[in-house]
Amino acid sequence: MAKKHVGVLMGGMSAEREVSLSSGEAVARALEERGYPVTKIYVDQDIDRVLRQTPIDVAFLALHGTYGEDGCVQGLLEILGIPYTGSGVLASALSMDKLKSKELFRLYNVPTPPYYAIDKGRLDDLEEVHGSFGFPVFVKPRRGGSSVGAGRANDFAELRSRVIDASRFDSSVLVERFVGGREVTVGLLDGKALGALEVVPKGSFYDYKSKYQSGQSEYHFPARLTPTRYKGVLNIAERANAALGATGATRVDFLVTEGENEYVLEVNTIPGLTPTSLLPKIAKGAGYEFGDLCIAMIERADTGVVNGIDDDAGEGLDDPGESQDAAPFLDAE
Ligand SMILES: Nc1ncnc2c1ncn2[C@@H]1O[C@H](COP(=O)(O)OP(=O)(O)O)[C@@H](O)[C@H]1O
Ligand SMILES: [Mg+2]
Repeated sequence: MAKKHVGVLMGGMSAEREVSLSSGEAVARALEERGYPVTKIYVDQDIDRVLRQTPIDVAFLALHGTYGEDGCVQGLLEILGIPYTGSGVLASALSMDKLKSKELFRLYNVPTPPYYAIDKGRLDDLEEVHGSFGFPVFVKPRRGGSSVGAGRANDFAELRSRVIDASRFDSSVLVERFVGGREVTVGLLDGKALGALEVVPKGSFYDYKSKYQSGQSEYHFPARLTPTRYKGVLNIAERANAALGATGATRVDFLVTEGENEYVLEVNTIPGLTPTSLLPKIAKGAGYEFGDLCIAMIERADTGVVNGIDDDAGEGLDDPGESQDAAPFLDAE
């Protein structure tokens, strides 16, 4: 059978453009090496016109952040009838929005740090909104990525400056209880966990530099957890993924504490895809070379309104009704 003509969509208009370009180049190279006809498509505001003029069978989305990972490009591809890799419109939009993700995590009893969100227009009320939430906290743009605009605050003055900083990237800012713990991330394919990787950043947290500069982080695969705890983390990752309805290759980020608590931070529907990125490292541990992973993603590409709707997606989730009386700022303990 002739191999599908793959359009690798990369670049885009978000703060993570550079990361996307490295993911896209790596994916295009790996697919070409395996004999796939590939066209690299650099995404900008003309993407609809370019897609109409380029005869591709499937779109490989190597985009991150706004317009690429949040359901926008996915919606355009559905209108054009082009199958695409990864999650559908709704799961993409929910996963990009850390506030909506956390609301769903709470509904499905997926442990996540206590939080509140504040809109840019309400910064004058910050003290009142923060109330007795306490310190330290971790502040991030509600729909950000790559740790851009994120950081810790130990007191009210730091909180104010962090919130102002984060609000340069989003009209809404998320404030979470600071979790002192180790960074663990789980890779999934089709909602099934492939394994958990531990990241030890050299800096105080897993910031932009630790993510993308070589030598700035150490990795342990499998993550250094007891077998029971390791299994538990994989299980929570599958539940987090299912709560948002994410499909294809995904990655769920965690902080795990000495006190045996696991907190889900987010689901990434288009994880970084350079050969040294976290998901490819995990996939390799599960027997997928980088090229195999890219092909597995293409094989799962889908289109139409059914994309992302999986009858089994809710399997294994607790009945959402059970958490209806959960207290605000639900804690994982
Ligand atoms: N509540 C928190 N407590 C402590 N550190 C955090 C918290 N939330 C995020 N971090 C740190 O910031 C990094 C990025 O946060 P994350 O929510 O995964 O957003 P991003 O989309 O930017 O990756 C995490 O890997 C972790 O190092
Ligand atoms: Mg993350």
